[in-house]
Amino acid sequence: MDRVLIDRGTIARRVEALGTTIAADLTAELGGPEAAALSSGRIVFIPILTGAVVFVADLIRHIPFKLSLGVVAVSSYPGKSMESKGAAIRGEMPRNLEGKHVVIVDDILDSGRTLGLIRDVVMEQNPASIRIAVLLSKRVDRARDVRADYVGFEIDDEFVVGFGLDYDGYYRNLPDIATLRASAL
Ligand code: IMP
Ligand code: MG
Repeated sequence: MDRVLIDRGTIARRVEALGTTIAADLTAELGGPEAAALSSGRIVFIPILTGAVVFVADLIRHIPFKLSLGVVAVSSYPGKSMESKGAAIRGEMPRNLEGKHVVIVDDILDSGRTLGLIRDVVMEQNPASIRIAVLLSKRVDRARDVRADYVGFEIDDEFVVGFGLDYDGYYRNLPDIATLRASAL
């Protein structure tokens, strides 16, 4: 580890604020509080495994609706790599998203390949709406033009771990987000 970039308290407060905003937007999308109470079963959160597990677990507990979770696994950093090598879906995509209000959730938006891919395959199923929520967004030139509707924190182009983010499969359990330098490995 190099240094703590975003501590756990700051993350918790930001995740709560994001959840509140997403809930308000979904309420509006569904036609107001009463309509939302009746039709919120059409909300599906799709966390991208494995990095999004910590974020989505905290986020959905701030969304007071009847919603479901449909996971999708994507691999983009094979082995001991800090550079995205493209994205590929591993296993099944959630089905029956037609007419659903989908919120795709990931730990970080970097090159945009992962979220671009998932957004495309969700779109093919004709959902009623699609939103993208990420805990972190890197200030980089993206390989794919993907914009997140909800961003926890904008960060510089550094490799980070913790709160779900890994290096070679490790460090996901760190409660804070920390930078990791190649020289520190
Ligand atoms: P993208 O496809 O390049 O946008 O990368 C997104 C995926 O790469 C995320 O789902 C992360 O799992 C991973 N990733 C990108 N940057 C970092 C980082 O700084 N630390 C750990 N994982 C990262
Ligand atoms: Mg990852």
